[in-house]
Amino acid sequence: MPCKKDFITLAIETSCDDTAAAVVKGMHGILADKISSQIESHSIYGGVVPELASRMHQEAMLPLLESALEEAGIKDPAAELSLVAVTSGPGLIGSLMVGVMTAKALSQGWGLPLIGVNHLEGHIFANAAVSEELVPPFISLIVSGGHTEVVLVREFGNYELLGTTRDDAAGEAYDKVSKLLGLGYPGGPVIDRLASEGDPLSFAFPVPLSSTDKVEFSFSGLKTAVAAAIEKENRAGRKLRASDICASFQRAAVESLMGKTDIALRRTGVKRLAVSGGVAANSALRAALERYANDKGIRLFLPPRRICTDNAVMIAAAGYSSYMRGNVSDLSLAPDPSWSIW
Ligand code: KG4
Ligand code: ZN
Repeated sequence: MPCKKDFITLAIETSCDDTAAAVVKGMHGILADKISSQIESHSIYGGVVPELASRMHQEAMLPLLESALEEAGIKDPAAELSLVAVTSGPGLIGSLMVGVMTAKALSQGWGLPLIGVNHLEGHIFANAAVSEELVPPFISLIVSGGHTEVVLVREFGNYELLGTTRDDAAGEAYDKVSKLLGLGYPGGPVIDRLASEGDPLSFAFPVPLSSTDKVEFSFSGLKTAVAAAIEKENRAGRKLRASDICASFQRAAVESLMGKTDIALRRTGVKRLAVSGGVAANSALRAALERYANDKGIRLFLPPRRICTDNAVMIAAAGYSSYMRGNVSDLSLAPDPSWSIW
């Protein structure tokens, strides 16, 4: 893909509970990467409260943009920037609205082209943003709080969904198990930490859909098995070993993700695997992926943890690529909470 070295994208991401802004030169030159997290405000409610998220995006947006532009050394945005990219779906409507309206106003005011970016295409580009070596075809495993998707990336912009979840997303399962154990929101990081101190074989939680060769996930049954085990321990009057529950749950979740990714790689014959989304920050999954890639001769792309969870660098990279492929948005761009690119 041609990489105009002086092409600078300002990207905005507000699909859920992180307000993010980034300034990126070409596809890989990260000049600024800013995130304002709302986690503390939502954690007291045990999950993301959409109305609160939208209001907090409004409060955070302008100071965040100013600090991103300052860090990038942009003094005259109209003259120095080339493109405004923004996540326009899927996500929470009130959250998306804040980002899209801001991006439209900036592109109008500064006379810059505008591009609406699909959040999942953004996650696919998380690895491309930090590695020049990732070229299609590759398998993209997207594992986040809202999505569990295995995608064949034939070309940038040409995607085939090979499989997804029947019910809960992988990150959602982490968050629900965390809630059952009273460990708070988000559940991924705390379960990740506790699991490292527990015995993964202490509870025989089943690996979901392990008996079929379909690329398909299901995490709600696993969550129910965890709930039943907690209840059984409580009824028996045994002291709950949260670290053992976490380790056993994580073993089953990671085995499921690895098993289905293996099927997708074998079936397509593709030798490159790029993993992204919040759950890609998980230590056990990262270790299992490294082992697998070494054993099978697969080239693995795993972004740094900061780029796994929601960020605007990936939106800048996806927006840049989409614009270079000839796409552009206009002022009719509207948030689409259920936008699918498959
Ligand atoms: O990609 P992301 O920031 O937002 C969505 O688009 O959903 O992912 C957030 C999800 C949450 O469910 C969170 O619990 C999970 O990623 N997560 C993790 C870890 N860090 C974040 N899951 C497992 N292990 C982690 N270390
Ligand atoms: Zn995401």
